[in-house]
Parts: sequence; C-alpha cells; structure tokens
Amino acid sequence: MAIDLYCVMGNPVAHSRSPWIHARFAELTGQTLRYDRRLIPLDGFASSVRAFALEGGRGCNITVPFKFDAAALASRVSSRATLAGAVNVLSFEGAEILGDNTDGAGLVLDLQRNAGFDLRGRHVLLIGAGGAAAGVLGPLLHEHPASLTVANRTLARASELVARHAALAVQQEVDLLAQSLQGLRGNFDLVINATSASLSHAGVPVAGSTLKPGALAYDMMYGPPAQGFLSWAAEHGASARDGLGMLVGQAAEAFLIWRGVLPPEQQVLEELRVVMRETP
Ligand code: ATR
Repeated sequence: MAIDLYCVMGNPVAHSRSPWIHARFAELTGQTLRYDRRLIPLDGFASSVRAFALEGGRGCNITVPFKFDAAALASRVSSRATLAGAVNVLSFEGAEILGDNTDGAGLVLDLQRNAGFDLRGRHVLLIGAGGAAAGVLGPLLHEHPASLTVANRTLARASELVARHAALAVQQEVDLLAQSLQGLRGNFDLVINATSASLSHAGVPVAGSTLKPGALAYDMMYGPPAQGFLSWAAEHGASARDGLGMLVGQAAEAFLIWRGVLPPEQQVLEELRVVMRETP
C-alpha cells in the first residue's frame, strides 16, 4: 500500500521545522507516513496543491506567504479559519480540499498545557493586527478571558479585527477592545506579541507598565527574533515565553485533524529545544 504523504508548502521553506516535528509525531504515535518540505513558486500555489493531491498527498501545512491563497483555494473552510481569514492546514478528501487554521489552537495549547496559564477571567493584551494576530484572536476568545485588548500601530487594522470578532466576544462574554499603540492604557496578565517589529529591529512596541506583577509575556516568534521581547519581559519582572511551543502545538492540532490522534507535543517540544540549541 502507498505510504500516506504530507508536506509543508511555503516560500521560503528551507528553515521549516515541520518535517522534523511530524516525523517525530509519527514515530511516537506508531503511524506510518512521509512528510516533505516543498518550495512553491510565488505564482504557482494552486497548481502545486492540486499536483500534490494527484500524487496521493493526504494533506499539507501552509506557511508564508500562502495562508491567504490557501483560504481562497479550499472548497470548504472551517469556521475558525474563516474568522482568521487564513488557512494553515489543508486536507484532501476525495475531490474536496478542506481548509483549517490550527495556529490559535496551538497557542492556546501551549499557554494552557505547557505554560500552565489559565486564560479564564484574565486580562489579555494582543499586540499587532496582521495575519499572525488574526489567526489567534478567535481561539483566545473561546477561552473566556475577562478582557482582550488588541493594540496596533495602525488603529484601523485593530478596529477591523475587533469588529470581525465582536459577535464571538459577546457570545463568550469577553470585553473586546481595540487601541492604538500610541494611546495604549492599562496593564495585563498576559501580553502577546504578534507583531513583526523585531524583524526590522524596531524594539518592543509597548511600555513595561503594560505588564501586571507576575504577568506572562509571550512572543509568537522563536529563535533570535524573539530574543529582544524575552529580555524586555525579564527586565520588567514578567515570565517570558517564546512561540516554539505554539509551532509544535499548531502541528499537533494538524496531526490530530489528519490522523485522529493528538501526539505528545510536550515531549516533542522539549526535544525540539535541544535540536535547536545544537543546530540553530
Ligand atoms: P504577520 O502576518 O506576521 O502578522 P503582517 O500582516 O504584515 O504580518 O502584520 C505585521 C504586524 O506587525 C502589524 O500589526 C504591524 O502593524 P501595522 O498594522 O501598523 O503595520 C506590526 N508591526 C510591524 N512593524 C512594527 C513596528 N515597528 N512597530 C509596531 N508594530 C509593528
């Protein structure tokens, strides 16, 4: 019988740790599958996905810059991916291409299970209103924080994101607000950095006073781009956590969709931290 095929599609994609993570998940859950890495031409996303499905592909992860194209290509999109406006997991079922988004679930899994942070009743600050923030806002609201403030350099983008999630916030009884970074007020139990500010060496875009005593400061990035934020958090007395657990968490949730089993993501995260220290 042909082996079940999966891959991660992106451009660039050489740096992706997904093949390593999924190979480890497969080993630890006793599943037989192959998971590759595919560099997709910028103008060739849809044809590459269709070709992979014809080759016998069962599903793929989608990374930069194709998450929006994947949402447009899928024949059915989950409600959480619709809210996020982006798809990071495709599954092929007959002629159907199913789209889902596990980024937010990965973040919540890492926060609650690995960091031991219970979101219920907490005051949360989400910095940024781009694709990374959009992917996690819905799943955060589902955990019933008391309030969630989206703060962005461009206020209009934060307001748009908040408006799109307003009905869900009412349903979950969460006080959902948009603020500009410049006028940001208040302090928070959890501060999540979903901006790309560190990639342009711009520094942390909020003041240390946003952190309540004992707060958790979480950067959705990992590796060198997360370092500035983690140091800033430590300087202000907060616990600091990078986004490596979110990466493993979103992969675990994708594995669950494809294989029907949630792999031991905590163990794989610990192993990946060792691998990354040895081969950064
Ligand atoms: P991504 O998919 O990584 O979220 P994006 O959609 O380009 O990428 O969004 C980048 C986010 O980082 C935005 O919220 C952006 O703020 P603007 O909406 O005002 O552009 C934020 N960002 C980028 N550089 C920043 C900086 N130097 N200071 C503050 N925010 C920054």
